[in-house]
Amino acid sequence: MNWWVSMPKVELHAHLNGSIRDSTLMELARELGDRGLVHFPDVERVILKHDRSLTEVFKMFDLIHVLTTDHETVSRITKEVIEDFAAENVVYLELRTTPKKNVSKGMNKKSYMEAVLEGLRVVSNVEVDIFSEPNFDCPASAGIYARNNECESNGTGKKKIYVRLLLSIDRRETTEAAMETVKLALEMRHLGVVGIDLSGNPIIGEWLTFLPALEFAKEQGLLITLHCGEVPNQVEIHAMLDFLPARIGHACCFGEEEWAKLKSLKLPVEICLTSNIRTETISSLDIHHFADLYISGHPIVLCTDDSGVFSTSVSGEYSLASSSFGIQKREMFQLARNAVNFIFAGNKVKQELEQVFDLAAKTLEF
Ligand code: IMP
Ligand code: ZN
Repeated sequence: MNWWVSMPKVELHAHLNGSIRDSTLMELARELGDRGLVHFPDVERVILKHDRSLTEVFKMFDLIHVLTTDHETVSRITKEVIEDFAAENVVYLELRTTPKKNVSKGMNKKSYMEAVLEGLRVVSNVEVDIFSEPNFDCPASAGIYARNNECESNGTGKKKIYVRLLLSIDRRETTEAAMETVKLALEMRHLGVVGIDLSGNPIIGEWLTFLPALEFAKEQGLLITLHCGEVPNQVEIHAMLDFLPARIGHACCFGEEEWAKLKSLKLPVEICLTSNIRTETISSLDIHHFADLYISGHPIVLCTDDSGVFSTSVSGEYSLASSSFGIQKREMFQLARNAVNFIFAGNKVKQELEQVFDLAAKTLEF
């Protein structure tokens, strides 16, 4: 596992509330339990249960959201999630989250996102690049990376992680609520928001409900990624592919026609192996579409989806793909490096990341 941790990696499909440490969830549950707001043993049972169907996963998210309702907690989990990804050498992270309203906590979508940004700001053990513009204070940002991606110039010897944000539209939302999220993303563009995600329970909501907001986002230059084909809804899959998002997530329930269309469009696919197996959207890894997409040279990127909920990590996903599909370390490294082509940040960041990978290639033993 050490080798997979030491390799630089790019994470493009991680949901904030799905990536919380179990220890933090337990602590939050205990606090709410002490205040009589939840029944702790029930919550503990749900948190520690690791095999979950897709339906159970969404019940789990409803529970997690009960535990993470105030601004302070949103900042805390954001900080911890960044630290955890950085600790396993994720050098670029696109973190997605659904901006939420919670009247009783004085929270609206904007204040929720401000709490997320605060979480990014208070990360202290790693240097976080959160802005769309390059930060020239540190030579690492200008492309000069020391070994192990350490930024030596500021004398802190800290690792560096680029973080960009995607705002998620939940499939339970109305057209107006989706539009509000897109407008918020536009307002926060200078703060590292680069795109929009459509997620949530795939059996809820209609594509046409979200389309106006997604079209508006696209017109305004935001990049879009869609959870696509988590359930066999061929009409929706075709409509989503016709929309031409910049990437899609999952692509589990595609038939021959959908594969042909996806491949001809060359749309990058965010692949989440453990998530697909745990939620039973794919019955086993031997029939997972990763193999066919990899062999046919289709653009793919390995991601965690919900590292907390599914007890995984980006390093774990690379290790799993290597052992399950018989791919050597050098090829896996190349797969990780290719992911740089599909990030939503600009060319400058891409070039800097390529340098990080090239430098790492000189020191890693393949
Ligand atoms: P949040 O957006 O930070 O609250 O992260 C949790 C949310 O991400 C969930 O409530 C879902 O809307 C979404 N999500 C997480 N995992 C999945 C998935 O596997 N499929 C679809 N949506 C998901
Ligand atoms: Zn997802």
